[in-house]
Amino acid sequence: MKIPFVDLHAQYVAHRAEIDRAIAGIIEQTAFIGGEAVQRFERDFADDYGVAHCVSCANGTDAIYIALKMMGIEAGDEVITTAHSWISTSEAVSQTGATPVFVDVDEYYMLDVEQVERAITPRTRAVIPVHLYGQAADMTTVVDLCRRHGLKLLEDCAQAHYATWRGQRVGTFGNVATFSFYPGKNLGAYGDAGAIVTGEAQLAERMRMYANHGALKKHDHRMEGINSRLDGLQAAVLSAKLPHIHDWTRARQQVAGWYDKHLAPIGGVELPRVRDGATHVWHLYVIQHDDRDALARHLSERGVATAVHYPVALPLMAAYAARGFRAGQFPRAARNQHRILSLPMYPEMTEDMVRHVAGAIANFKKGR
Ligand SMILES: Cc1ncc(COP(=O)(O)O)c(C=O)c1O
Repeated sequence: MKIPFVDLHAQYVAHRAEIDRAIAGIIEQTAFIGGEAVQRFERDFADDYGVAHCVSCANGTDAIYIALKMMGIEAGDEVITTAHSWISTSEAVSQTGATPVFVDVDEYYMLDVEQVERAITPRTRAVIPVHLYGQAADMTTVVDLCRRHGLKLLEDCAQAHYATWRGQRVGTFGNVATFSFYPGKNLGAYGDAGAIVTGEAQLAERMRMYANHGALKKHDHRMEGINSRLDGLQAAVLSAKLPHIHDWTRARQQVAGWYDKHLAPIGGVELPRVRDGATHVWHLYVIQHDDRDALARHLSERGVATAVHYPVALPLMAAYAARGFRAGQFPRAARNQHRILSLPMYPEMTEDMVRHVAGAIANFKKGR
């Protein structure tokens, strides 16, 4: 049995008529940039998510940059974030001229809040927790810390659409939250796409302006901005897919349950943990293993695709070499990078497929 890491084609086949209709509609109207489809998706997503404002943009990286920039983050500022994420999280901080300050993660792969407290300096302006792999971070503690220190809070929800902390959706705790709709994300477009949500009307307006060359109306440039627009085709695909997101999330949770059940008896495999109070929407199902690379090769030989998210902790990447970070400063993130392995995860997976993956992992152990 061949098991891909994700299967976007299976999802397309299941919803072909709706998606084809949405795409054909945009081509028919030649509404390629902006227009009704983009406004509709922003409204649909804000309503379904339960937030006041949704500002769409070109991708989840721009979303972080636009939000930070319009919250006034600039050169000389420090923004605290996690050592274990995709580079967008810290890259966007640097794009504003500010300095990303990395702290280690806890056993749930979330920003270690005690360390955030210790990393705060007079220059600290904001904190970016990442709800990594689809699990909600402990937002009670993060919100409390940001309030006590007067820091802006940006939630990076790129991997965690609709996850909750104590019953409240991630993305609704801070000043602003950012989403990616990259094709493989839990809600994915057919190209790059992103959005920012906020309860603050003025901030929403400034972000909308900045993402569109500093203008809300054609030729009315109130500031210099950037070109980061969601296009009509992506908006139409996202609106067609949005009604299914809750079913897909439940399906991912069922797949994770099957993994837990079938992997639990296998020694040497560390299963993902979910913190009390958090829900997990399983963008990724990540195990740990002492012999990760050999296990990945073994699975590949048996038709099971895997991936590593991510093979190098952010501060240890070549991109940050000039800052001279050492692995010992981020012991958990540095250790994770050699041990983590993401198993196939998508809503259309069946229990048989999960059994096949688990069986292949069990064989590896036996064969050693
Ligand atoms: C945690 C995290 N933040 C930000 C992003 C950036 O999103 P995009 O690829 O849409 O720019 C990603 C995407 O992979 C991500 O995983």
